[in-house]
Amino acid sequence: SGKPIVILGVFVADTAYRAQRQPRMGETILGTSFKLGPGGKGSNQAVAAGKLGSDVTFLTRLGVDPFADMARQTWALAGVKSAVIDTPESYTGAAYIFVEETTGNNAIIVSPGAAMLISPGDIEANEGLIRSAGVFVTQLEQPIDAAVRALEIADRAGVTTILNPAPAAKLPDRIYTLCDYVTPNETEAEELTGIKVSSVDDARRAADKLLEKGVGTVIITLGEKGALLHTADRSDHVAAVNAGPVVETTGAGDAFNGGLAAALSRGMEPLQAVRFACAVAGISVTRPGTAPSMPALLEVEALLARA
Ligand code: RIB
Ligand code: NA
Repeated sequence: SGKPIVILGVFVADTAYRAQRQPRMGETILGTSFKLGPGGKGSNQAVAAGKLGSDVTFLTRLGVDPFADMARQTWALAGVKSAVIDTPESYTGAAYIFVEETTGNNAIIVSPGAAMLISPGDIEANEGLIRSAGVFVTQLEQPIDAAVRALEIADRAGVTTILNPAPAAKLPDRIYTLCDYVTPNETEAEELTGIKVSSVDDARRAADKLLEKGVGTVIITLGEKGALLHTADRSDHVAAVNAGPVVETTGAGDAFNGGLAAALSRGMEPLQAVRFACAVAGISVTRPGTAPSMPALLEVEALLARA
């Protein structure tokens, strides 16, 4: 199962509404369906890694309410261990997810609730856990100062660090030097570099900018165009792995990042790890939901053997 993975991030309940379009302000429209399920970028990434058989621990805050129970059930089913700080003064978060009926594309509002209270002090209280990891992963749904503190501790302990800069946010310059891997999508890459990414060449230019800021390896995910793996020495475009018709792309980035962490923790080379992560994401988009759409290891291996 590889070296231990520790993921800092947010769990929220995903409330997914499918409809032909979004309502305008002041308007009410009828949706075509609704689904409640587990979500949150960090938790989804932990579920992806857990379902791939990794030894993964998820660090977060939860309220004391039914959505917290949903979180614990989700992690138990996926074999994810957790380090939770119970936060009765707040609530377990939720996300409004609009899924466009015809395309499967999405627009999201996340309210992280208790996870917004994750502090540098919480991270320091879990220093031993972070130092014991082989791979550490975080995103930007919880406060950035907590992400920075965790990356500092991991980096100083020689743990491989992955920052998935999602959702896009302004970042302090020093965060980049703490990251072995940064994994923005096209929009996030543009937000971080000012370079609009609509082709692989654009992605290369944006990735160069991130290297200049001190990142070790840049991986830009490109949706149906796959991903770019970019270092000072080489730049590889990895094609997306097609696993069937696209049903819902929400959570594809999380599938990719969880898959990447699982692959690196098993000692795969970066190029092989990115290909593996593309296959995990490729399967996730053929299924509805975020965490529930993460594949098992055997499914990924079967797909890669066929592709
Ligand atoms: O990346 C997808 C996730 O982003 C969803 O599960 C939603 O909760 C939002 O946080
Ligand atoms: Na999905």
